[in-house]
Amino acid sequence: MNIVVIGTGYVGLVTAACLAECGHQVNCIDIDKEKLKKLKRGDIPFYEKGLKNIVLKAVKNKTLSFSKNYNQSLNQVEAIFLCVGTPPKVNGKPNLSYLKNSLTSIAENLENDVAIFVKSTVPVGTNKFAKEFIQKKIKKDLKISFASNPEFLKEGNAVSDFKKPDRIIIGTDDPLVKKVSKEIYKNIATSKKLIFTSIESAEIIKYASNAFLATKIAFINEISRLSDHFNADIKEIKKGMSMDERIGEHFLNSGLGFGGSCFPKDLDGLANRFREFGIPSSIPNAVRLSNNQQINYFSKKITGNLIGKTSCVMVWGLAFKGGTDDVRESPSIKLIKKISNKYKEIYAYDPLAIFNAKKELVGFSNIKFIKDKYEFIKKCDCLIIATEHSEFKSVDFKKIGKMKNKLIFDGRNILNKQQAEKHGFIYHGIGV
Ligand code: UGA
Repeated sequence: MNIVVIGTGYVGLVTAACLAECGHQVNCIDIDKEKLKKLKRGDIPFYEKGLKNIVLKAVKNKTLSFSKNYNQSLNQVEAIFLCVGTPPKVNGKPNLSYLKNSLTSIAENLENDVAIFVKSTVPVGTNKFAKEFIQKKIKKDLKISFASNPEFLKEGNAVSDFKKPDRIIIGTDDPLVKKVSKEIYKNIATSKKLIFTSIESAEIIKYASNAFLATKIAFINEISRLSDHFNADIKEIKKGMSMDERIGEHFLNSGLGFGGSCFPKDLDGLANRFREFGIPSSIPNAVRLSNNQQINYFSKKITGNLIGKTSCVMVWGLAFKGGTDDVRESPSIKLIKKISNKYKEIYAYDPLAIFNAKKELVGFSNIKFIKDKYEFIKKCDCLIIATEHSEFKSVDFKKIGKMKNKLIFDGRNILNKQQAEKHGFIYHGIGV
């Protein structure tokens, strides 16, 4: 099929590359000229496991191309995926200007009937508005079939999530979209996994899924504080809970809390929707509050156990989660900002996210970014683990044993407490 993907961020680029890989002819449109130049030579602007190879191969095979130009790109297009950003405004509501601009450009340049799939995360009710918006703008006699097609890609695992989805949600009231969807996703999902819903249900499924996962994390984090107080073990508690199939084992890892460009934004978006329409609700706000409490809780654990303005601290992990270079709403960055004035120097290491973290921590002059996680360990009084990058699991206890104080604050419960203690460390996890 001839497909156009608008927006080359995480969602757009993964969608475009994977659709091209499974046999479609895909053209990506973006307004950022510099980004397009880079993409054309296979330079991916962010880290995503496996993506670069797929893009390079598809560009070489001429099944994937990039353009700034709506006019040429929409020639003979059969389906359009809208993947533009909807960043939060100061009032917490998503900014829909990119979405409206793209719809306007589509309307101005379209020459034939088309199916539009909206992947951008937008509050319930927005897609109906978007559908009417483009229909009003189209001057020619063309049929626009419209669908809300939310994405469920996890950063760091996005390619695999796209190729092996748990479900594909298509919210539409147009029978033609069903036919087009089956054709687009035929090499990716069986018909059992292709779920057709109303537009509004699809929009709510997206927000509700993210908010529910965030709620699980906030819940286990609160329990981890109780576990700390009574010297229980949150890993045992998780195991005992998750053997109940109704609860399950996923998203029950306690730690510093959730971050990223999705959970915090979507919780706020959901809370806003309830408020705007006067519908009683408390969970989304409570989860946000609880997540902030977790950072305060952990930072107090650190400052309560390591007192002294002359102390130096080593922080491993800056990204909002393991396997990504993304630092948006990163709990690690928030923690560093909180504790930075309490200590003389903070050495910060991350295998992927240093470039992005530097921009977030401009002005924090006592933070030194390092390339080798063991190099400055001798100067430090403690080690803080703030992101669940897998390389931290195989820590060399001998090397970190050169620290001035043998003190570990494990904000992701990634190390084994008993093992750390065997090596002579004082170990503080969360709930263990
Ligand atoms: C999330 C959802 O998982 C995706 O399904 C969704 O498509 C995406 O948002 C989106 O809306 O675009 P993502 O933000 O990439 O994906 O990251 P997650 O893997 O969900 O992790 C979110 C945060 O929760 C991270 O900070 C992570 O460290 C934390 N987390 C996760 C925990 O603290 N404990 C856990 O058990 C799991």
